Amino acid sequence: MDHTPRPGRDDARRPRRLRADGVRSLVAETDLSASDLIAPVFVDATTDERVPIETMPGHERVPVEQAVSRVEEVLETGVEAVMIFGIPEFKDARGTRAYAENGVVQRAVRAITEETGAYVITDVCLCEYTEHGHCGIVEPGADEDPHLTVRNDESVDLLAETAVSHAEAGADMVAPSASLDGMVGAIRDGLDSAGFRNRPIMSYAAKYESSFYGPFRDAADGAPAFGDRRHYQMDPANAREARREVELDVTEGADVLMVKPALPYLDVVAQVREDHDHPVAAYNVSGEYAMLQAAAEKGWLDLDAVAHESLLSIKRAGADLILTYFAEDVAESL
Ligand code: PBG
Repeated sequence: MDHTPRPGRDDARRPRRLRADGVRSLVAETDLSASDLIAPVFVDATTDERVPIETMPGHERVPVEQAVSRVEEVLETGVEAVMIFGIPEFKDARGTRAYAENGVVQRAVRAITEETGAYVITDVCLCEYTEHGHCGIVEPGADEDPHLTVRNDESVDLLAETAVSHAEAGADMVAPSASLDGMVGAIRDGLDSAGFRNRPIMSYAAKYESSFYGPFRDAADGAPAFGDRRHYQMDPANAREARREVELDVTEGADVLMVKPALPYLDVVAQVREDHDHPVAAYNVSGEYAMLQAAAEKGWLDLDAVAHESLLSIKRAGADLILTYFAEDVAESL
């Protein structure tokens, strides 16, 4: 008999030996747990009843009065952290409801932190609060001239004010998502001088100008009325640039580094994991959720299986934390 190993017939190396039930979980390199997940919650000051979000089946905008019950539902699934987004009662040029003491997020956070044990993170941005839907104050005439865009430094001051107002309301962590230069440093300064030295910042550090945010913009009513966000969010073509972006946020004091979106940018997740010792978060965004939901609705994919596999892959790429609209469903199935 010829024992010379041939390609595919090498008896010394048979990876299948460790794939049997019983051993596969012992050798699994990655696992998923409810404590890795953060559930986004939308609180809407313009409604007094829950409104389903059409583009994101299973998700709703809830009135401030139901913020606590909504978060309690999340906690029942085993997920311990929420990310709060707000839809204000009105919008204006300077996004004033983003940093109002009685703003929608501030009121919701006060109630949630008083009445539940959830770890409360707030999204810090102006796009849901400005009448033009951009993430900061825009130059006069920006609606006519695509070269004019967000006024960076003035907007950053308002983001810092927003973050401080969230901390005052009781937010455990703030997550700035406006993609403006110097945003993390300004927020760190703001929090420190207001006495919140120990309140961490999760920065949307590598945030791409992505079409996968489409369903969210319906959910949070934050689509730009003119122009787009390419002047401040990152170009999907760039990964090396993400190194510089993330490094800046580290220097400015970010505690957790987020990559967004997640699945189309797993190379970037892996790169941030390799470059930094900080916890890495990834945002499995609305479009990633919507496409699986839509395919499952047609009977083309098994929703539970693909949701689990997606989140597992995001962890395998190097994320410690995952923001996902699947948080509750996946946590329940674990
Ligand atoms: C900005 C913000 C956005 C998302 C989270 N924070 C929208 C954007 O940058 O356009 C998108 C999240 C998602 O698509 O699930 N406040």
